[in-house]
Amino acid sequence: ISLRNHKPLVTVAARNADVRPRAAATYKAAVLGAGGGIGQPLSLLLKMSPLLSHLNLYDIANVKGVAADLSHCNTPSLVTPYTGAEELAESLKGVDLIIIPAGVPRKPGMTRDDLFNINAGIVKTLVEAAADYAPKAWINIISNPVNSTVPIAAEVLKKKGVFDPKKLFGVTTLDVVRANTFVAQQKTLRLIDVDVPVVGGHAGITILPLLSKTRPKTEFTQEEIEKLTVRIQNAGTEVVEAKAGAGSATLSMAYAAARFAESCLRAIDGDADVYECTYVKSDVMQELPFFASRVKLGKDGVEAFVHTDIRGLTEYEEKALQALVPELKGSIEKGINFVNKQP
Ligand code: NAD
Ligand code: LMR
Repeated sequence: ISLRNHKPLVTVAARNADVRPRAAATYKAAVLGAGGGIGQPLSLLLKMSPLLSHLNLYDIANVKGVAADLSHCNTPSLVTPYTGAEELAESLKGVDLIIIPAGVPRKPGMTRDDLFNINAGIVKTLVEAAADYAPKAWINIISNPVNSTVPIAAEVLKKKGVFDPKKLFGVTTLDVVRANTFVAQQKTLRLIDVDVPVVGGHAGITILPLLSKTRPKTEFTQEEIEKLTVRIQNAGTEVVEAKAGAGSATLSMAYAAARFAESCLRAIDGDADVYECTYVKSDVMQELPFFASRVKLGKDGVEAFVHTDIRGLTEYEEKALQALVPELKGSIEKGINFVNKQP
């Protein structure tokens, strides 16, 4: 299997400007929570995609102006705002891809799980509507705690009888983006070449960068491994503390979510060489029905799991992998129970 590095969006934008013939923009996406800190820059990056013909922006507030603003960019997609619960259904009809960054972000001192009480209900409501109005769409979940919100989405889709495990994704791309950046800085490598798989989940110790699998092959001292691992695991908190109460990562997240969305669209469009780490329904790890690892994306969603990433781990990685199991298992069960205890 060739594990090609992801082409940065800048390349996509540059391609927009050249004159070679290319496939027409034909796909439709909806961003739910499009007026927020992530939603706005994410919508801008999606507006740059040559693959999108329609970009639907939904939020409970503040989205009309965002759509008017974006609609002036001379790129293919038609941008339409949808405001409030009564317009949610319309925002979803006919879309191929739904991206969900709706929900509250952390403040200093909070864990991602502290967001559960508010965000669980938001994700449940939005995915119920997705099941009703776009049952075949791919769904990218950004809202935290991702370790629980993805199982919540799966349970909702199951209850509605439309769960396709190949098309539901927790977006963990920011962990990969951070790992690639920090490793390239530490080892003075060309950023474009670096690729570090990150597995597990998206909170604290459940975020496990597999530095031994770094491409190109890179040697680390044990001290470097421990420092890099902890930095990647705490990178979200690093941003939350720097923003000092004004929220969490929005710009790097928008970049990461746009990269993941572009990968989904390329796969739907028939590109046979699309790989991403993502948190999905999985049997890669016994005991963990959801697990982030590298998958091959195809026209119908997850086509294959790249098992080689989690084989032949170092002793440090193997221990860290075993250590994350109880926390991730608990977060998954919490999500599943949330849906099933409700009428
Ligand atoms: P934000 O508060 O700036 O924006 C959230 C948006 O969601 C707001 O515009 C709000 O009006 C909207 N919203 C709230 N309830 C809604 C509903 N029921 N329907 C539609 N829209 C609704 O927050 P943000 O900084 O954009 O972060 C959003 C979420 O993304 C948070 O939960 C945060 O923790 C998470 N996040 C995840 C990752 C990741 O790697 N997966 C990274 C960063 C942030
Ligand atoms: C991140 O990793 O930046 C996000 O999950 C937001 C957060 O709360 O840290």
